[in-house]
Order: sequence, then structure tokens, then C-alpha cells
Amino acid sequence: MTKVAVIGSNMVDLIAYTNRMPKEGETLEAPSFQMGCGGKGANQAVACAKLGTEVIMVSKVGDDLFADNTITNFEQHGIDTAFVSKISGVSSGVAPIFVNPSSQNSILIIKGANEYLKPDDIDKASVKLKDADLIVLQLEIPLDTVYHAIEFANKHDIQVLLNPAPAVPGLDIEYACRCDYFVPNETELEILVNKPVNTIDEIREAAKVLLDKGLQNVIVTMGARGSLWLSKTGDERLIEPVPVKAIDTSGAGDAFIGCFSHFLVQTGNTEKALKYASAYAAISVTGKGTQSSYPNVAEFNEFAATYVTN
Ligand code: RIB
Repeated sequence: MTKVAVIGSNMVDLIAYTNRMPKEGETLEAPSFQMGCGGKGANQAVACAKLGTEVIMVSKVGDDLFADNTITNFEQHGIDTAFVSKISGVSSGVAPIFVNPSSQNSILIIKGANEYLKPDDIDKASVKLKDADLIVLQLEIPLDTVYHAIEFANKHDIQVLLNPAPAVPGLDIEYACRCDYFVPNETELEILVNKPVNTIDEIREAAKVLLDKGLQNVIVTMGARGSLWLSKTGDERLIEPVPVKAIDTSGAGDAFIGCFSHFLVQTGNTEKALKYASAYAAISVTGKGTQSSYPNVAEFNEFAATYVTN
């Protein structure tokens, strides 16, 4: 059976729906609040599992009231938590999120226990990780751990996807070159290549800078503009967005990656996986929250039947 391993973060999302951000020194009322399980790694794992792929999670929680809830949430989605461990004396990861009336989000992260996911944790999980068909990584855990995971994937001939989120200027591009898929959003791409990315032509040029450095497949997620895939073999596809009325864009990039991972391991077809991922991310922005807005298989199949063309 195909398996995806997510080595990454979990957070508790504290989402405030705002009319505007307060000024310094100002107290301002916001219309509503929602709390839920989040974190880029956890979101990607949950999206992938909701679609039916077997998922193994390697992650760390703290010793607070959020920890058991996070583990239970993984289990309720059928995710293997044998290597989700608790660390004492540290808080779990927490993410205050602000969503404005235009559905756009701003996120603060307090990494907490995520900072303690170490290379050694990958070695401990190696028995299970060796069976994975794809390892999925983000940057809410220490870079050394990410690099070790890439080395592990290469050593065991496992495909690896790196989502360089949030952008870390010190990311060693040599490691990105050792990944099969590199999936930034426009903001992350801009920080990585230090070039403007306002138009699709500019995004293409910036992605080509990465390909010239030796990356294999660069997939840029562009929100309401869809996604752009460029490969070192010269293949290029612009995946059109699925038009929806967005109310909360939080976690849409993670929905995209979780769904992409599911279809990639199930079909081996990158373009097909991208089309489905685009549709899955589109549905996610029509609901509030991160994981709470991800559709299950039945909901997604109905939507995809209308909006995804092969
Ligand atoms: O990508 C969205 C996620 O970023 C949120 O769930 C939040 O926890 C942060 O990790």
C-alpha cells in the first residue's frame, strides 16, 4: 500500500476574524474566533489522510493541554502517530492567525515543541519511514532535521517534497536540489531568489533561477492565480485556478500539498496531481479554519467531478 510520511510541525491555530488589525497601543474588537488543529506539517498530513492515503507523522508536541488533543486529532484521521512524541517542559506549537474581510491571512508561529524535532527522531522512526513512497517536509522544524530527512530519503530512494514554508533565508539550496519536488508560494519564492514575483512571467523567471541552480521540479502555488510547475526537463504547466468565493485562505497551501501528495503516490502523474490539488485547495478556502475546511473523499469527489478535467 502506498504511504506518505510527513516529518514536520503541528500547531494549535487560534484564528481571529478581523475587520482590520489594531494599531500599536489600540484594543480593537474582532467579530469572531475559531480554534483548531493546524501547523503546516499536520495540515498536509490530514489533507492527505482525508483523501485515503496511509500517512505516518513524525512530530513533537509539548506537555500542555494541547498535546493530547493534537495526537487524538491525528488518530481520528487514521494517521500513524507511533512517532509523534511529547516533550516535557515545553509548550506545544501555537499559531495566532488573523483573517481579514478579504479572506487573506497573516500568521504568527510560536514553534514550541516543534523546535525539538531532531535528526535523531528520524533515525528512531526509520523502520516505518523506509516503507514510505514520499516524504513531505516543511520549515517549521529545525533545518538540520529537514536536511537529515532529505539525506534519509535519498539514501532509501524515497521521493521527497520540500515546502519551504515559512521562508527561511538560510535554506541551503544544495538540499533543495536533492528533493524531487520543491513547492514554495509566491512570497517564499520572492524571498528565496530575491526577485519581484508580481506577474506570472516574473514568477516563471524566478522559478527558472531555482532550476538553473539544479532543482528538479519547482511548483509555485499562486493562490487565486492557480499554480505553475516547471521541471528541469523543460516541462512547464500553468494549472488554472478553480473559481470559488473565498472566506478564509488559511491552510490552503497545505491543502494543496496534502492533496498533491495523495494523487502523486496513487497515480505517479504530476500534472494530474496538480489539477486535483488546485481543486482541493479551492474548496478549502470556502470554509473557515485550516484542517476544519478540508473536504473528505466524498465531498471532494463531487466537487472534482465538476471542476477537474483530465
Ligand atoms: O499554513 C497554515 C498553517 O501555518 C497554520 O495552520 C498555522 O498553524 C501555521 O503553521
